[in-house]
Amino acid sequence: MRRAIYPGSFDPVTNGHLDIIQRGCKLFDEIIIAVLINHEKTPFFSVAERCEILRAIVTDIDQAECTLTVESFEGLLVQYAADRQAHAIVRGIRAISDYEYELQMALMNRRLQPQLETVFMMPAEAYSYVSSRLVKEVFHLGGTIEGLVPGVVEERMRARSEALNPKSKVQDS
Ligand code: PNS
Repeated sequence: MRRAIYPGSFDPVTNGHLDIIQRGCKLFDEIIIAVLINHEKTPFFSVAERCEILRAIVTDIDQAECTLTVESFEGLLVQYAADRQAHAIVRGIRAISDYEYELQMALMNRRLQPQLETVFMMPAEAYSYVSSRLVKEVFHLGGTIEGLVPGVVEERMRARSEALNPKSKVQDS
């Protein structure tokens, strides 16, 4: 039984994240998608909303024999992984620019918990430039995010922005 943790902010989850989850399903029997509770950041979606969105989305993934669960976590990732008796941490690497930060985290995590392996996975090239940060920036500036995030994310982002700024809806219609 090989259990992995796929940790992240997922604010919002992108098609790149989904691609990594799907690839991870070929390697692990169980993947826990773990949403970080970060009190320092002001997120677009709350942790509860992100978990809800992820749970809705993973049902559409071809999971093969892999069990996918979604949880939130707080504190040290290695401690959370030990609590869940996980064997590995999965992280996506898009470009060489991601590597330095990811290597630093992986080596720090290895120092803290030598038995825990970090597995780097590459998403499809089509998602190599997609990040949650850029998705939010493009969305806020009125650009299209179609094809970059799951449909449910796009709908919920639009609903959120209409709720915060009802005038934009009136002007659109
Ligand atoms: O999606 P992100 O924001 O790049 O994910 C970063 C994440 C959640 C993997 C990282 O911030 C993390 O592991 N945070 C938990 C706190 C921790 O263990 N910090 C030490 C990392 S070496």
